[in-house]
Amino acid sequence: MSTSGLEQLAGRHALVVGGSSGIGLGIARRLTALGADVAISARRAELLANAAGAIGATAVVGDVRNEADCQRIVAEAVAAVGALDIVVYAAGTSVLRTLDTMNADDWRYVLETNLIGASLITRAVLGHLRQHAVVGYVSSETVGRPRAGLVAYAASKIALEEMARGWRIEHPDTRFAVLGVGQTIGTDFARDFDADTFTAVWPSWLAHGEMRADHMEPNDVGATIAESIAVAVAHPAVDIDRMTFRSPGPVAGLAEPA
Ligand SMILES: NC(=O)c1ccc[n+]([C@@H]2O[C@H](COP(=O)([O-])OP(=O)(O)OC[C@H]3O[C@@H](n4cnc5c(N)ncnc54)[C@H](OP(=O)(O)O)[C@@H]3O)[C@@H](O)[C@H]2O)c1
Repeated sequence: MSTSGLEQLAGRHALVVGGSSGIGLGIARRLTALGADVAISARRAELLANAAGAIGATAVVGDVRNEADCQRIVAEAVAAVGALDIVVYAAGTSVLRTLDTMNADDWRYVLETNLIGASLITRAVLGHLRQHAVVGYVSSETVGRPRAGLVAYAASKIALEEMARGWRIEHPDTRFAVLGVGQTIGTDFARDFDADTFTAVWPSWLAHGEMRADHMEPNDVGATIAESIAVAVAHPAVDIDRMTFRSPGPVAGLAEPA
């Protein structure tokens, strides 16, 4: 696909945390195609290495739930590609459990991955950002509308967005962007979901009008996010607050949130 001069990223350096599969991989794939030097990070080493090889990125294995790993991920990424113009935090997970079955470990797993890791990675990149860098956090279109069985996830994403607002206040010279994403099929997100629990909560999702008639593919949404960031990198006078990337059409059932 041809791109305008503004969208080209030759000479730019990027880190995509959670870049081994799904939406993060889609973002990283498009960033490399636009000419950026990209490092991608995740836990599963073989999957990560294969993904990096396929798109021409550098692989940095690490677990964002571990503070030392967050620092090492950033150090190794910077050593490989240089100081960063673009950081995308796409790492995210959820358990599929109703609140009455959630224990402390379940809560910690979701919050450490989706929220705390995001702030630790941000802290680690602070001294390694080039001027006019963009730091983006992948959030969810459904923020503010928790789904049965995914309440910890919903809580983590609303907290992630508040964290981004906090980084903006404390570091007004850096651009922190919330990247809200709608339903995307073909990622690894639900790989550990229990089928019986899914069957049990599904009627609630429909009743609350949470399901769009259509969904997106990870490479499409990833490319759209990457190109949006590429344009922002070329326009340092414009701050992105929040963007939402979702499939067209209505939500089944209830009206759109305000
Ligand atoms: N799919 C959707 O419909 C949808 C909708 C809205 C928002 N999102 C958000 O989009 C982002 C990507 O999700 P996805 O659907 O593309 O799922 P995915 O395919 O499972 O991607 C998640 C990525 O994060 C990595 N990751 C997970 N836990 C990690 C950890 N502790 N440390 C380091 N890396 C970790 C995963 O690799 P490893 O497991 O190997 O570590 C993988 O690279 C998430 O933030 C998710 O909340 C997804």
